[in-house]
Amino acid sequence: MTDQSSPSSSGTPQRVAFLGLGVMGYPMAGHLAKAGLDVTVYNRTASKAQQWIAEYGGRSATTPCEAAQSADIVLACVGNDDDLRSVTLGEQGAFAGMSRDAVFVDHTTASANVARELFSIAREQGLHFLDAPVSGGQAGAQNGRLTIMCGGDAAVFEHVAPTLRHYGVAVTLLGESGAGQLTKMVNQIAIAGVVQGLSEAIHFGQRAGLDMPRVLEVIGKGAAASWQMDNRGNTMIEGRFDFGFAVDWMRKDLAICLDEAKRNGASLPVTALVDQFYGDVQALGGRRYDTSSLIVRLRKLSA
Ligand SMILES: NC(=O)c1ccc[n+]([C@@H]2O[C@H](COP(=O)([O-])OP(=O)(O)OC[C@H]3O[C@@H](n4cnc5c(N)ncnc54)[C@H](OP(=O)(O)O)[C@@H]3O)[C@@H](O)[C@H]2O)c1
Repeated sequence: MTDQSSPSSSGTPQRVAFLGLGVMGYPMAGHLAKAGLDVTVYNRTASKAQQWIAEYGGRSATTPCEAAQSADIVLACVGNDDDLRSVTLGEQGAFAGMSRDAVFVDHTTASANVARELFSIAREQGLHFLDAPVSGGQAGAQNGRLTIMCGGDAAVFEHVAPTLRHYGVAVTLLGESGAGQLTKMVNQIAIAGVVQGLSEAIHFGQRAGLDMPRVLEVIGKGAAASWQMDNRGNTMIEGRFDFGFAVDWMRKDLAICLDEAKRNGASLPVTALVDQFYGDVQALGGRRYDTSSLIVRLRKLSA
């Protein structure tokens, strides 16, 4: 009988399944195919799976359960906790099709609770579960340069890390089950405050009549520099938001952060406020805007 704490097969796994070919999952699965792995994909909307196969080869399955059969590793990147439960549990879910000791790697940004719940269910069924949310956005997924924050058993992490490195530049185990999702929450809390600060800075500079592209070029070399300033500053100045990480997704993530903070007692006043500001952006029609669109409501308030 295999030790519950480590997966059975040795070496780099070759047979993988990928569930959820969205903005992130589609290119991530593509990197696995390009690396020569035997990839079976599942997407709820089948036409996207067909499009993926036309581009990368491989196979598609009609259910997560079917996709998971004979895969050493099943990877997923779907929307939220409920979506994750629906692709893992039940008769058509991946857990029902996975072979003993296979590993389920979840790249969805979800709660730490659902990660721990699925970790326990997987263990009861002789499977393994790793929470592995990502940062780096659509560009990071396309370029294979994601940061991947993992929670789970060390032996399971070591087993799957070479596979994740096909699209991850920083693939790190942060602790036991749920630690990957908690780390992603830290990431989102840090981003929320920075984007609001950058929005106010650009808004103020524009109201002051400054040449803002030049201003950002200068202050971007000093203590105010940030990823958001480098990658979003100019599009914020221009008022372009039709790309990137959607406000709806950010609100989902901040709700997860605020919920977890209720449990661990952390005080998150700015995060709570920025969450409300994103609510305003949604009401202004910006549900699919990039998260840098926080500046839209400042312009509206000053109009
Ligand atoms: N986009 C980013 O920049 C970014 C960055 C970091 C993290 N993330 C996180 O990554 C996850 C995916 O984001 P995304 O931008 O790739 O989203 P997306 O483009 O909306 O794709 C979501 C994928 O999940 C599938 N899905 C959703 N609910 C499902 C369900 N109940 N059953 C089966 N499949 C379901 C969708 O299938 P259909 O095609 O049938 O709708 C689609 O393939 C989210 O948790 C997000 O927060 C996104």
